[in-house]
Amino acid sequence: MQSIPTETVDAVITDPPYNIGLFMHERNTNLKKMRENQFAYAGWDNMEYKAWKRNMSRFLTQCARVLKKRGTLIMFMSIIKVADIIELATKLGFYYKTTGVWHKTNPMPRNMNLQFVNSTECWIYFIYKGTSGTFNNDGNVKHDFLESSVCPNSEKNFGKHPTQKPLKILKELIGCVTNEGEVVLDPFMGSGSTCVACDILRRRYIGIEIEEIYFDIANSRIQYLDKIR
Ligand SMILES: C[S@@+](CC[C@H](N)C(=O)[O-])C[C@H]1O[C@@H](n2cnc3c(N)ncnc32)[C@H](O)[C@@H]1O
Repeated sequence: MQSIPTETVDAVITDPPYNIGLFMHERNTNLKKMRENQFAYAGWDNMEYKAWKRNMSRFLTQCARVLKKRGTLIMFMSIIKVADIIELATKLGFYYKTTGVWHKTNPMPRNMNLQFVNSTECWIYFIYKGTSGTFNNDGNVKHDFLESSVCPNSEKNFGKHPTQKPLKILKELIGCVTNEGEVVLDPFMGSGSTCVACDILRRRYIGIEIEEIYFDIANSRIQYLDKIR
């Protein structure tokens, strides 16, 4: 992110590590029996709380630098971490708008006879240095509650990412808070879902990913779009 020029990005839309791996490991669950690609075993999600918060603060500082005035930041996050992110971001000049919910209509029915099945994730919505930014609602009421299936297999043609987000949700958010030709940054792009959605909606995009295997999946997804156009 440090190599991106200052005030050049219209929106940061991203899905950073929720850092709930340690939390899940320490609970007396039967996680070990779960699929290998479950997020608690993904490897990027196991930081100590203080280190994670420090990293999130550094990430948000860079967001504040690269975003234009009245630019948008939308971050997916685990519900238990929302207050931490709001505290860090507001200190850096972000105006908190809302915490939205993504409801998954077909979650894994894990422990369904013992507890409420987890079917939601959050997204936190901020404006940088302003109280409102681009909001394309075509005159319709937009709820901060989005619904879709979990990421369908048809979007995993080039390899699997354990926390891949469905294009339906990203297209909804990107279409609402940006205009054609604007620049969207996803510094934790994973398999590149944000970039693919931007490409479809004719937004420009920058994606960053630390793991080569996911970076390659993202590249393949984007190249495929070019091929079928
Ligand atoms: C929750 S996943 C994002 C998934 C993405 N939304 C998708 O649809 O595929 C977070 C990603 O951030 C990456 N990551 C973790 N730390 C990173 C860092 N310091 N820089 C860049 N990417 C990082 C992980 O490898 C992981 O792929």
